[in-house]
Amino acid sequence: MDQNNFIIVLAPLQGFTDVTYRNVFSDHFSGVDEAVAPFISTMGQKRLKPSRIKDIIPENNKKLFTTPQILGNIPEDFIFLADHLYEMGIKKINWNLGCPHSKIAKKMKGSGLLMYPEKIDVFLETVLPKISNRLSVKLRLGRRSKHEIFDLLPVLDKYPLDEIIIHPRTGIQMYEGISDHDAFAKVLLNTRHKVVYNGDIKDLSSFNIVHEKFSGINKFMIGRGILSNPFLAETIKDVISDQDSVQRLKDFHDDLFENYKKIFSGPGHLTGRMKGLWNYLGPGCFKEYKKPLKNILKSSSIVKYQDMVERIYHHM
Ligand SMILES: Cc1cc2nc3c(=O)[nH]c(=O)nc-3n(C[C@H](O)[C@H](O)[C@H](O)COP(=O)(O)O)c2cc1C
Repeated sequence: MDQNNFIIVLAPLQGFTDVTYRNVFSDHFSGVDEAVAPFISTMGQKRLKPSRIKDIIPENNKKLFTTPQILGNIPEDFIFLADHLYEMGIKKINWNLGCPHSKIAKKMKGSGLLMYPEKIDVFLETVLPKISNRLSVKLRLGRRSKHEIFDLLPVLDKYPLDEIIIHPRTGIQMYEGISDHDAFAKVLLNTRHKVVYNGDIKDLSSFNIVHEKFSGINKFMIGRGILSNPFLAETIKDVISDQDSVQRLKDFHDDLFENYKKIFSGPGHLTGRMKGLWNYLGPGCFKEYKKPLKNILKSSSIVKYQDMVERIYHHM
């Protein structure tokens, strides 16, 4: 922790904040103290997807302390994966109880489990005595209603969780509406656990609002705000840089591009990944971004892509 007395955690964002992004980000920006990796699904016992394990392997994650996240609801499969991670040296893991996507929720995973506190109870009662890793949980207020969490909090209180990360929306809300600060305040009164705030911190003023409202919280998780504006954690922590910000963003982009080039097989894959990020960077970092962003997203070759990217910097 620095003199700011609070910790900024990079949120897990599947398809964005993989190990490549986390490492390149850490080479170019400061202010983020740790990360939670995008989820790894349990896949039955004796089956582990090497590409997913590569994402959280400690040797590859020395630049930014990263907690792997597991999505699943079968205790034995969870224990199998948690044990495997522990053997790799991973002492801390996170359980995903927040994923809002209906395909996942229908299978009673992610936010789909939030309506069933008794199932979560059995899960934790079975899993916790059998794993050596410390466990934290990331959750929403509920699947369908923001009141569901109040039946769950007493269950979570029974167990020695490392912390609970709350994104104060319901699952069916997806990312619509705004984070519910009143409900979050009520959560704080009804749990014994350490709570991390997560949701809609997109600039200094939205950070200041939650920082002032929830003075007992010292950990803030930020996702889309950092994708949109990689300088955000530095701004929040008042880190001063004398380097030109356009050049810093260019260098970050080019480094990320070069690193993804080594991983993604075809040019479409590579530019596809980068275009996904531009959907956030465009509105987040540039003034008149609409036309230049459209041109980046339309670009059909690497040369065209790079040409269009060069042009957008004139609008920063
Ligand atoms: C594209 C995308 C992918 C996400 N992937 C995950 C994930 O793998 N695990 C998870 O717990 N949350 C995931 N989330 C939710 C974020 O971690 C975070 O809770 C949410 O975006 C709210 O925080 P923010 O407003 O700071 O972005 C994802 C969100 C988005 C938009």
